Amino acid sequence: MKRIFCSLLLTLLTACQAETNTPKTNDSAVNTEISKAEITVYKSPTCGCCKEWVTYLEEEGFKVTAIDHDDVDSIKVKYGLPDPGLKSCHTAIVDDYLVEGHVPASDIERLLKEKPTDIKGLSAPGMPMMSPGMGSRTPKDYAVLSFTESGDIAVYSQY
Ligand code: CU
Ligand code: CU
Repeated sequence: MKRIFCSLLLTLLTACQAETNTPKTNDSAVNTEISKAEITVYKSPTCGCCKEWVTYLEEEGFKVTAIDHDDVDSIKVKYGLPDPGLKSCHTAIVDDYLVEGHVPASDIERLLKEKPTDIKGLSAPGMPMMSPGMGSRTPKDYAVLSFTESGDIAVYSQY
C-alpha cells in the first residue's frame, strides 16, 4: 500500500528507491560555512530517495528532523502546496517555507538568506534524475521552481 504513492507519483520518472551507486562525499570545508538550519522532512517510510535527500542535507549542514508519514499527500494539502503539478516525493518545512522534492541545499540556503516575503516555497517537481538524493549530488538538467501561496510559479534556479 505504501508503495502506491511513490509509484503513482513517479510514473513519468524513475523508481523511488533509485540511488544505489552515488558516491558520498563529505566536504567539511563546505559544511563549516553553512549555518545549521533546522528543517523538517515529511516522507514515506518506503521511499529510498527521500532518505538519500535527508542524508544529503545532513551532510550539507542542516539539522534534519525526518518524519515518516503514510499519506504524504495529506501533508502537501496541510501545508498548502498550491498546485498538484509541483508535487514530488517528500515535503519539507524550513522556517515558514515549504520545500517540495529534491531541491539542492544551495537553493534552500539562498531562500533562508534572502527570506522573500512573496514566495511560499520551492519545488523540484517529480523526480529529477540528476538531483541530490537521486542520481547526482550536483544538480543538473532540471529547474527548481518558486511558488506563491496563490500558485504563481517562477523559475528559481535552472540547472
Ligand atoms: Cu524522491
Ligand atoms: Cu523524497
